[in-house]
Amino acid sequence: MHEPQLFMVSSNPEGAVNAGHRLQAEFFKEYTSPEAISKYTRATAGYGISYLLDHDYKDVYLRALDLLSDQGKKRGLRILEFGCGGGMNLLHLMSVLDRKGIRVEQAIGTDFSPVLIEAAQRDAQKLLGQEQLQRLEFHQAKNETLVTDLSIALKKEKLQLQGAFDFIFGVNTIRYCHDAGKELDCARDIFELLAPGGVCVVIDMNNRFPLFRSDLRNRLRGAKEEECYVASLEEYAEPFIKIGFKVERKEHFCWVPHSSGKLLCSITRLLSPVLNVVAPSRAMRALVVARKPS
Ligand SMILES: C[S@@+](CC[C@H](N)C(=O)[O-])C[C@H]1O[C@@H](n2cnc3c(N)ncnc32)[C@H](O)[C@@H]1O
Repeated sequence: MHEPQLFMVSSNPEGAVNAGHRLQAEFFKEYTSPEAISKYTRATAGYGISYLLDHDYKDVYLRALDLLSDQGKKRGLRILEFGCGGGMNLLHLMSVLDRKGIRVEQAIGTDFSPVLIEAAQRDAQKLLGQEQLQRLEFHQAKNETLVTDLSIALKKEKLQLQGAFDFIFGVNTIRYCHDAGKELDCARDIFELLAPGGVCVVIDMNNRFPLFRSDLRNRLRGAKEEECYVASLEEYAEPFIKIGFKVERKEHFCWVPHSSGKLLCSITRLLSPVLNVVAPSRAMRALVVARKPS
């Protein structure tokens, strides 16, 4: 597997450590730990995420895929998931599409963590059939340098990758680009990789949801641990608009925590219709669906 030099701590002319790079190196360490594998792979991730993959997230993906042309769908979809972790979303989506008779020509998952990419490859072997496995690859790549890293991993010229995908999505990962000030790089590469009329979906934490565990922990301890910056809905959409996408959906959704067990999942699921009416902007996730002009 290609392993680019992912993080070298850089210094400014005065010798001070670049804080953005230091934080990114911390996130890299977090996502290459053994705990990351159990948190971001299907078998061990928990009840809440399984529910979401089969309900709220599935609905988002299928609605976004409806925006694609029939021609693209007939040929077979070319899908990329960036920041895929252990591949839960991509693997589940492939099964859903298979059950619906929607052909996938190629599916690629990328992440900067080599251990999560290996975990995704292992899970794919367990969960998918031979035919689907032939069309699926996982590669190490950074969200902010997708074109360059994919061109190295796939041994293809960058030019050959232009317009190579119909559908690109990222779940709970683009906030790391916002944190590092690289969100425009990520959106630019997605634009380049998508075919005209292609669609991108990003789902991430809502900065207006008041009860994220890390925030509560910080408040209780009275200390402020360095956390990843969580963008606002407007900020998530902005790089896509700047690069030339048309934003088709921009909203908050979802009240079921990824890590919830059966009971909390059932409670939040039952409360969702009420919460959607009384406090829609406080939901757990932000969603942006952006389309490259035809
Ligand atoms: C919260 S996890 C979500 C994983 C997966 N998308 C899911 O929903 O299960 C965040 C993921 O983003 C990846 N990540 C963070 N920064 C990244 C970057 N700059 N480039 C590529 N992947 C990154 C991490 O390795 C991790 O797998």
